[in-house]
Amino acid sequence: MKEKLEALKVEALAKLQEVTDPQVLNDLRVKYLGKKGELTEVLRGMGGLSAEERPVIGQVANLVRGAIEEIIGAKQEAFQQQETLNRLNAEKVDVTLPGRRLPQGGIHPISRVVQEIEDIFIGMGYRVAEGPEVETDYYNFEALNLPKNHPARDMQDSFYLTEDILMRTQTSPVQIRTMQAMKGETPVKIICPGKVFRRDDDDATHSFQFHQIEGLVIGPNIRMSDLKGTLQQFVQEMFGPNTGIRLRPSFFPFTEPSVEVDVSCFKCGGHGCRLCKQSGWLEILGAGMVHPNVLEIGGYDPAEYSGFAFGMGAERIAMLKYGIDDIRYFYTNDMAFVKQFKGI
Ligand code: PHE
Repeated sequence: MKEKLEALKVEALAKLQEVTDPQVLNDLRVKYLGKKGELTEVLRGMGGLSAEERPVIGQVANLVRGAIEEIIGAKQEAFQQQETLNRLNAEKVDVTLPGRRLPQGGIHPISRVVQEIEDIFIGMGYRVAEGPEVETDYYNFEALNLPKNHPARDMQDSFYLTEDILMRTQTSPVQIRTMQAMKGETPVKIICPGKVFRRDDDDATHSFQFHQIEGLVIGPNIRMSDLKGTLQQFVQEMFGPNTGIRLRPSFFPFTEPSVEVDVSCFKCGGHGCRLCKQSGWLEILGAGMVHPNVLEIGGYDPAEYSGFAFGMGAERIAMLKYGIDDIRYFYTNDMAFVKQFKGI
């Protein structure tokens, strides 16, 4: 029996020594030390031993068990250490590596121009007003002195959602909404930026969607000279102190008289160049004195109050200002294009 135990020990130690896998180690532990294991098996034969032999064999058996347990314990510990080490290696971070930078965006040239214009007018005491992009025919046209079937509607071919609801073709409906909200109080002094929509060609200078900025002032004794002075101040701040303006007669149903406003070419100083097509002038906005019908619809008595309004396209101003020759660049999110405006 003693030999059996010794042989078992030799075999077990040799096998355990070679184990490289925790699962195999556990299997071997069960095989040798488990309830149905080989050591237990041998010890079961102890009943047939004499009283003198029993303690001797018992002692040997304990030594064998001890030796096997010891090597299993050592192996378990080694496996655990290895596992910790592996985890530490896998999770290793080099804290000296430079961080990953998030790409930093820039402000879109249209937003930039809109903000710049807003700032200039806020500096003159205006407040920013906004209105819905989906408008009623009433606010977009009728209240602006453009009755149904008025021929001037042709200038703004529209996207109708229903008979009476459309995507606004101009920011002018905000004039009416503001007047009605202010219930006859003065002064009205607002600037309204926003998206507008027209059925238009899709080419280098036209888009079915663009941005307008509208201005409206109402009060007692507001005159054409106030409009002119305001726009003169605006273009000097926007395009430089030497910029001049020129007013040409025009027509809008909601203003009377109406003007088309040109600025002296800020590129050539008015001498004539490619940008201004040799004319020395650049057309940038439409304006006029608020039509009495519009004042009345807005709740202001035309006998008591007068006002002026103006409207310009942000795209057109951005194109002129930054020398961009195709409006589609604004909407295609081409990083190479947008990036150029990062630090300006
Ligand atoms: N809303 C006009 C347009 O889109 C521009 C404009 C605004 C003209 C205000 C005069 C006064 O063409």
